[in-house]
Amino acid sequence: MAAFALAVVREDDRQNKMHMIKCKNISKTYTSGAGETRVLKSVSFTIRGGEFVAIMGPSGSGKSTLMHILGCLDTPTAGHYFLDGNDVSNLSDDELAAVRMQKIGFVFQAFNLLPRATVVRNVALPLVYAGIPSAKRELLAKKALDGAAFPEGFRNHYSNQLSGGMMQRVAIARALVNNPALVFADEPTGNLDTKTGEIVLKTFQDLNEKQKRTIVLITHEPYIAEYAERVIHIRDGEIVSDSKNHTRRQVAG
Ligand SMILES: Nc1ncnc2c1ncn2[C@@H]1O[C@H](COP(=O)(O)OP(=O)(O)O)[C@@H](O)[C@H]1O
Ligand SMILES: [Mg+2]
Repeated sequence: MAAFALAVVREDDRQNKMHMIKCKNISKTYTSGAGETRVLKSVSFTIRGGEFVAIMGPSGSGKSTLMHILGCLDTPTAGHYFLDGNDVSNLSDDELAAVRMQKIGFVFQAFNLLPRATVVRNVALPLVYAGIPSAKRELLAKKALDGAAFPEGFRNHYSNQLSGGMMQRVAIARALVNNPALVFADEPTGNLDTKTGEIVLKTFQDLNEKQKRTIVLITHEPYIAEYAERVIHIRDGEIVSDSKNHTRRQVAG
């Protein structure tokens, strides 16, 4: 009996290790004076290492809340989240920060750059908090800029001298500076015109295909979700569909 139970646990363990992300009945409820808001309602799904997945749903459907949990910025009210095989559902803020530094990069809609700092300094910033010495920070920042195909000639510009598309590619390089296996992008093209947005989406496709990083793209636009290989559809805090994207949009070039 005990041996059987152990075998089941081991099988569970093996399954968890195959998945970069495994959510089991994740719920998130906010409580305020006005009462309880159930934002995520028992969400379950898995994402394998190396996948490029879009999480798509209308505004207010719970996408960012879900991303905050998947990205170890927040914890669920109920349920379990396994990241790379480890249960991270109940970690402290410090423990979550350590997991993020090891495994995760973020790109947001508002590029969130320091305007009066150079490109290289912006990209190196997360490493300051990780206590990495300055010479090494610069080296890693340049490597990340290479990884995001950011042009050499602009690396000593101040970030407020750049176009929106260039700013977002600085933000992508910053997300790569800790060499994360998993990159989240929350509406990354929301502040960009279509053509510039395509360049950014192509950058994510390259990070996925050439560098084998797992990409989770959050969007409310079906057109943007078409760049991913799989689309998870969320509505009112529940997953309503999860399917392979047979008409995947590939950016030329
Ligand atoms: N900290 C919070 N406290 C209370 N309600 C919240 C909080 N964060 C988000 N919500 C609510 O949760 C719902 C989903 O929000 P969000 O995850 O930002 O959706 P999306 O990113 O899909 O637009 C919204 O109704 C929002 O008002
Ligand atoms: Mg959002």
